[in-house]
Amino acid sequence: MATTRETTDRSAVRTLLRLWPYVRPVRARLFTAAFVAVVASCTGLVIPLVLKWMVDGPVAGRDPAGVWLGALYLLLLGIAEAVLFGIRRWLVARPLSHVEAEMRAALYRRLQRLPVAFHDRWASGQLLSRGTTDLMLLRMFLAFPLTFLLVNGVTILVGLVIMLLQDWVLGLVILGPAVPVVWTCVVFERRYAQVARRAQDQIGDLTTLVEESVLGIRVIKGFGRHRSQARAFRELAGRLRGTELRKARLLATIWGVIVTLPEVAIGAALVLGVLRVADGQLSAGTLVAFLSTALALRWPVDSIGFLLAMSQEAATATERYFEVMDEEPEDRLDGAAAGGARSRGGADPAAAPGLRFENVSFRYPDAPPGSPPLLTAVDLHVRPGESMALVGATGSGKTTLTALVPRLHEVTSGRITLNGVDIAAMSREELRGRVAVAFEEPTLFSASVGENVLMGARDAAGKAELDRALAIAQADFAHALPQGTDTRVGEQGLSLSGGQRQRLALARAVVGRPEFLVLDDPLSALDVHTEAAVEAALRQVLADTTALIVAHRPSTVLLADRVALLSGGRVAAVGTHQQLLRENAEYARLMSGEQEDSR
Ligand SMILES: Nc1ncnc2c1ncn2[C@@H]1O[C@H](COP(=O)(O)OP(=O)(O)OP(=O)(O)O)[C@@H](O)[C@H]1O
Ligand SMILES: [Mg+2]
Repeated sequence: MATTRETTDRSAVRTLLRLWPYVRPVRARLFTAAFVAVVASCTGLVIPLVLKWMVDGPVAGRDPAGVWLGALYLLLLGIAEAVLFGIRRWLVARPLSHVEAEMRAALYRRLQRLPVAFHDRWASGQLLSRGTTDLMLLRMFLAFPLTFLLVNGVTILVGLVIMLLQDWVLGLVILGPAVPVVWTCVVFERRYAQVARRAQDQIGDLTTLVEESVLGIRVIKGFGRHRSQARAFRELAGRLRGTELRKARLLATIWGVIVTLPEVAIGAALVLGVLRVADGQLSAGTLVAFLSTALALRWPVDSIGFLLAMSQEAATATERYFEVMDEEPEDRLDGAAAGGARSRGGADPAAAPGLRFENVSFRYPDAPPGSPPLLTAVDLHVRPGESMALVGATGSGKTTLTALVPRLHEVTSGRITLNGVDIAAMSREELRGRVAVAFEEPTLFSASVGENVLMGARDAAGKAELDRALAIAQADFAHALPQGTDTRVGEQGLSLSGGQRQRLALARAVVGRPEFLVLDDPLSALDVHTEAAVEAALRQVLADTTALIVAHRPSTVLLADRVALLSGGRVAAVGTHQQLLRENAEYARLMSGEQEDSR
């Protein structure tokens, strides 16, 4: 799966540079903040110089007033450093939460615009974790490591120059560990990048598992599967823990090297320095200044380990973020498809009014390679105002065929026309405004009944339209809910029965008085009486709507003017119910309720 790819070779810097478009709007503040932090950090480096002046001047000369003056300087420098760091924090906090919000909004927009095929392929938990954990890592990176890698780098350089100027022999002793430290950092970076990626992918997998267990809680409880589910969770969580421990071990190693080697060097410089002061080659003040500079550099050096670690995690998060952002959204695919359609002849309204499938074949992009297309050469013409039932064994591709009409999936070859116009040449907005759908799985959102139904209409629809749609779908129960049609339903609201949900989904499909109506088994969960009532009302709607209705039961089929039988990836027969019952053995078998499953 694309979501658990391991990366070995990639440049963290190049990856992180992709954040620039989002950071650009706040660049002025960010640069100012970095500059302020550099100044603050270098202010800290003046302190040792004041110490040197105090030791060699007032202290050596036993001048109390001079010592007090020195102490005052030190106090002022300390306050200046603290205030500057405070200003930095204030400068970055707001713009960075703005960056995070913008990136999250962009991700959400992209997820909405990506084709269904993308969502079929990606686990929801992987998407969730990108929108939450990964973006948080990025904000933390921009707030902290990004600035401090720069600030600490500059501080270390300035500090080293100061130390070399104080005494170049001691300076070289301090510089000694630089080579092994840099080497460790390089090796560490590469390993840490891999483990960080694995950890973030595992968080995504864990999120998926938790999400599925929550959504599927009834199945889990009903089958007493909580133990095996808990085992699966423990296993994934254990794997994540192992990866996190590996991260911690890597961090511990580099931390050990980065902290120990400079510490040893400082010790060596101390011994050497004391000997040279004793020999009179060095003033005591210079040694004090030198050592306090070295000690002041300890935090900038020590911090490099985890700053690099955080940067690696941020690079991984960026990479995961852009894996989604780089996917082609539906509307960008539009142009190409439309061009192709036009070159094939395009619109000819007189030719074929109604809904027409012309030599349509389709295979799922993620079907196993080499497998035959699910639909091959489907030809079907639903005349204007006609309602056509679509019948076929389970798994024959009925749902797939209906999903092609609103372009939830793209035909592999052939074309579908509405009143002679290729749907590939229409904008999706126009197409979806003309075609309304009700799916097998009636999905309701956390909103009121009214809002859920009116989702199917263009903006202008009001109370009257809502009531009419509810009446057609026999969903008048909605008026009897605690707050009528304002009652909240869905995940964060009242639970409805399967049949109730199905009727609301049907109301949503008919509320906009669509030109074309595609219903995927819309009445399967209803009892015979309710089904009959819905049918009677639907018949009025269907009178002036061109409809394609997937049906399993004879009672639903009878609603339609004609029936098409889908078999072997083709439309095997078209006719009235009676005709097909007489003439087509497969149809007769499907409708009679004998051995239905042909697979
Ligand atoms: N997203 C997908 N990716 C790959 N294959 C799919 C996908 N969705 C469905 N299929 C496959 O396509 C075939 C047809 O599925 P489809 O849902 O269209 O059948 P159906 O006729 O609607 O069946 P039913 O009567 O049970 O609703 C099935 O074999 C299924 O495994
Ligand atoms: Mg189906």
